[in-house]
Amino acid sequence: MNNDDLTRRDFVRSAAGATALTALSSCFVPTAYAAATTGADKPAALGGTPVFQGHWPDWPQWNQAWEPKIVDVLRSGEWSPAGSTAGHVTDFEKAYAQLLGAKDCVATTSGTASLVTALHAVGVDAGDEVIVSPFTFIATYNAILAHKALPVFADTDPATLTIEPASIERRITERTRAIVPVHIYGMPCDMDPINAIAKKHNLMVVEDACQAWLAEYKGHKCGTLADLGCFSFQNSKHIPAGEGGAVTGVKQELLDRARSYHDCGRAFGTHEGKGNFSRGLNFRMTHYQAMLLEQQIEKLVTDTARRRRNADRLTAGLKEIPGIAPARLPENSQAVWHLYAFRYDPAAFHGLAKIKFQRALAREGIPCGNGYSEQYFDGLLDEAIASRGFQRVFPAERLKAYRASLAELKGNKQVCKSTVAFYQTLLLGNESDVDKIVAAVRRIQAHSAELV
Ligand SMILES: Cc1ncc(COP(=O)(O)O)c(C=O)c1O
Repeated sequence: MNNDDLTRRDFVRSAAGATALTALSSCFVPTAYAAATTGADKPAALGGTPVFQGHWPDWPQWNQAWEPKIVDVLRSGEWSPAGSTAGHVTDFEKAYAQLLGAKDCVATTSGTASLVTALHAVGVDAGDEVIVSPFTFIATYNAILAHKALPVFADTDPATLTIEPASIERRITERTRAIVPVHIYGMPCDMDPINAIAKKHNLMVVEDACQAWLAEYKGHKCGTLADLGCFSFQNSKHIPAGEGGAVTGVKQELLDRARSYHDCGRAFGTHEGKGNFSRGLNFRMTHYQAMLLEQQIEKLVTDTARRRRNADRLTAGLKEIPGIAPARLPENSQAVWHLYAFRYDPAAFHGLAKIKFQRALAREGIPCGNGYSEQYFDGLLDEAIASRGFQRVFPAERLKAYRASLAELKGNKQVCKSTVAFYQTLLLGNESDVDKIVAAVRRIQAHSAELV
């Protein structure tokens, strides 16, 4: 595989392969842990023994104890929540809302569906502009485009990898309707300045919390920090159901709108009795997905605590290494580390290219991937703005200026180029596993001149 093209999902898939490779080499000479932590011995890429010779956990993880309840749902034939406000989907919605301290939760078919739903609920419509973080999974862009609205990219703060709040205000035009900050890799955005800008300009804020289950900012959970929040329960996520999503928040009227949109426009709560009062799609979750999710809540809590402990230890070790810059979190916030990302500076490694650094790490038994690429040059935005719909709702001059502005996202370019990321399962081991990650980086640095 060409690591330059290593997207998050490819990386998640390939991480299992990489661990299998290192597991094979565990038949040979065991590495003394003390030697590994000095980093002074020969890198595996130069014939040394890999620092990590174990097996990183697979993902997702099945627990047989969950089976009886899921089989019961399957046997019951009651798989869809249509036409009912009770049952497993409702139970999961209540449990997830309680977990977050949210007023309500609307379970959906995917994170993308949640974003499309939430954007509708806050009033995003054709011809609007939505200011968004460019450093995100492509679904964030697509959900905005689905409404024939323009995703206008703010700057990425290279220190935090999240949206640079100070850059939002100068992107506002008379068409701007909403801001979508993305808590990327489960690292909360600095929400206070974002909400302040939104208030000043009468804009709505939808959190893309698709990677931020249980992340916290100033004592509140992501998904409760703005007008609405969106989650994904896709297979790679910390609480997976194959596919699935949720819209959460603390504003009941908006949540009722979201519930309507995800259920064909039927009226709920605040709008009860109004019939099919709004547009809507069918984004309803099934009962068996909800049962799977509900039974994973406890695991999510314990896994998150472990990832946090290990990430803190990893940060303490990595930040001492010249050329390695772990992401900085906003004050008084806690991340959940969907990926553990840092920026890599080849200058501190005798010019060792990022791809060679990553390959050397993989040889040490430490699989890693890239951050996101500059996806706005991939063609999807060109396709969107050339479409009949966009041409109808936006003036040609606006679309031309918009296309030109993509070349100016320097902070994001730098972040895309320099980010290296570990998959979350590398944070589910013990302390000595974490120390081996640090040791491997140190070892590569010590021998970087030979690895160039
Ligand atoms: C930041 C972000 N936004 C949106 C999504 C979309 O979620 P889904 O894949 O469940 O549609 C994802 C999922 O990977 C994501 O990571």
